[in-house]
Amino acid sequence: MCGIVGYIGKRNAVKVLINGLQRLEYRGYDSAGLSIVENGELVTFKKKGKVAELVKLLEDRNFDSTVGIAHTRWATHGEPSDINAHPHTDNSGKISIVHNGIIENYHSLKQMLISKGYTFVSETDTEVLAVLIGYFYEKTKDLEEAVRTALSEVQGTFGIAVLSSYEPDKIIAARRGSPMIVGIGENEFIVASDAAAIIQYTRQVIYLSDNEMVTLNRESYNTKTIDNVVTNNIIHLVDFDLSKIEKGGFEHFMLKEIFEQPQTIRDSFRGRLLVEEGEARLGGLLPVLDKLREVDRIIITGCGTSWHAGLVGEYLIENLCGIPVEVEYASEFRYRNPIIRKNDIVIAISQSGETADTLAAVQEAKQKNATVLGIVNVVGSSIARETNAGVYIHAGPEIGVASTKAFTSQLVVLSLIALFLGRMRNLSKIEGIQIARAIKELPSQVEKILDKAEQIREIAREFSYSRNFLYLGRGYNFPVALEGALKLKEISYIHAEGYPSAEMKHGPIALIDENMPVVFIAPKDEIYDKVISNIEEVRSRKGRVIAVATENDERITKFAERVIYVPDTLPMLTPILTVIPLQLLAYYMAVELGCNVDQPRNLAKSVTVE
Ligand code: F6R
Repeated sequence: MCGIVGYIGKRNAVKVLINGLQRLEYRGYDSAGLSIVENGELVTFKKKGKVAELVKLLEDRNFDSTVGIAHTRWATHGEPSDINAHPHTDNSGKISIVHNGIIENYHSLKQMLISKGYTFVSETDTEVLAVLIGYFYEKTKDLEEAVRTALSEVQGTFGIAVLSSYEPDKIIAARRGSPMIVGIGENEFIVASDAAAIIQYTRQVIYLSDNEMVTLNRESYNTKTIDNVVTNNIIHLVDFDLSKIEKGGFEHFMLKEIFEQPQTIRDSFRGRLLVEEGEARLGGLLPVLDKLREVDRIIITGCGTSWHAGLVGEYLIENLCGIPVEVEYASEFRYRNPIIRKNDIVIAISQSGETADTLAAVQEAKQKNATVLGIVNVVGSSIARETNAGVYIHAGPEIGVASTKAFTSQLVVLSLIALFLGRMRNLSKIEGIQIARAIKELPSQVEKILDKAEQIREIAREFSYSRNFLYLGRGYNFPVALEGALKLKEISYIHAEGYPSAEMKHGPIALIDENMPVVFIAPKDEIYDKVISNIEEVRSRKGRVIAVATENDERITKFAERVIYVPDTLPMLTPILTVIPLQLLAYYMAVELGCNVDQPRNLAKSVTVE
């Protein structure tokens, strides 16, 4: 949600920190700040607004410091303001911390500290932790021990980095439920909540585990648990390069990521499709093969766009494998006391692998002895590590706050899982071959849709007057209607609702008049004729219809004012194609309305709070 970066080494710390904040800004952008130790003094600068505001504040100042911590915030406790921005310092002004997550018992800790004479200037839970560390430092005169003791008093989640002029050649970082990665360079370390801030300097990283902390000196580091047990970490190699987290000539990350989809879809199935055998090879599922053979029911869980992918997964797995599937919002699943039976499997879908609700749902399912699989994008993320097995989607870093390429890759992976499970059951080799061939065609088909960007831009211009939209689809494309509506509302702030087309007549039809655009997702499949009837119902009430239809479908032009064609594929794969025009439509509408596409208001990538 927020972004953390810390640096200790030989470079100019302010430059590294600002660069890191700019790369992390997609995670939160209501305020930003940094602390460094300059000439033995702890100095902190922080500012409400985007990182650019902080940069302005630092203009015309020169710093030599080679150690510091920084933060870009998405407010949870306390409105965005200079004072509530991180870093926060203890009462001595010599210890500074940046924090992601929520300190749940901050109120009682604050009362305890106030009763001992400590004071506070902000409304944040983070300041309480800073003051608590200061309190323990007064007793121990040892920063590592003070941080460790303070963290053992804390309930809630945290990723933190701590800097102090008491022990200036040191950064301490720790995590519980909020990611923290340490980049290991030559006599330098960069610690961050996201690899995007690290890879410019080094590709060697360690991922801290929950309740683990690291102390970084200039030449070495050590890790231990918050209970004071020394730990050993494997050094991993991060495998994405800088170009993947830069805009590469596109105006926005979102547009770049939409256009990356031919490649990201290919990356999701590469090495996993055995076309001639009509099978999928998913090495990540081998550890749970026996469980998969015996599975009686699958529960898919996730949030937002990942939940929409789960809904498509329900149709895919039920149709291809005959296994009953339920899809549940992770936020509901975690608190609902769900019934998990012996042969149930839970699949958690998450782009970031850090969504708090999804992570908690995984933990709840494990608590109930379920086998839990992950469909995750970010390698080494909390959900990837917490699940028993899984399949990475390999979409590469997704920076645009609105999820696009992760969704289509999630759908590819769900299709592969359905193929894999189907072939273990009743799906014939011939059907398997058909599906595998159709999956292989997807990248070039997506390219053809992207060629229509200009047409979609014109449609966006024409309809940008509208304050409301309806998105309707059936079967596999009902979740696409939900996804299209979500994309539009989150980046253009236009109210949009998705429905199964046939549901329209049970209420939403009352909204339809000559000002209401209705986007129909109407590919040529077994329920095409039914969708056409639904379109007629809208037309007869003067609604303005935009249709996403299959190439060469002339009939639909009689009913729809605007038609965006997508290539023909198997009905089960249509969502991977039909969603692309909807992503572009949302993007161009937002641009048309002058919205900040990559950093929409009130949103942030990766929701690591409840
Ligand atoms: C929408 C969007 C969100 C996320 C949701 C889950 O564009 O990005 O709805 O899909 O917050 O995030 P992940 O997939 O990271 O668990």
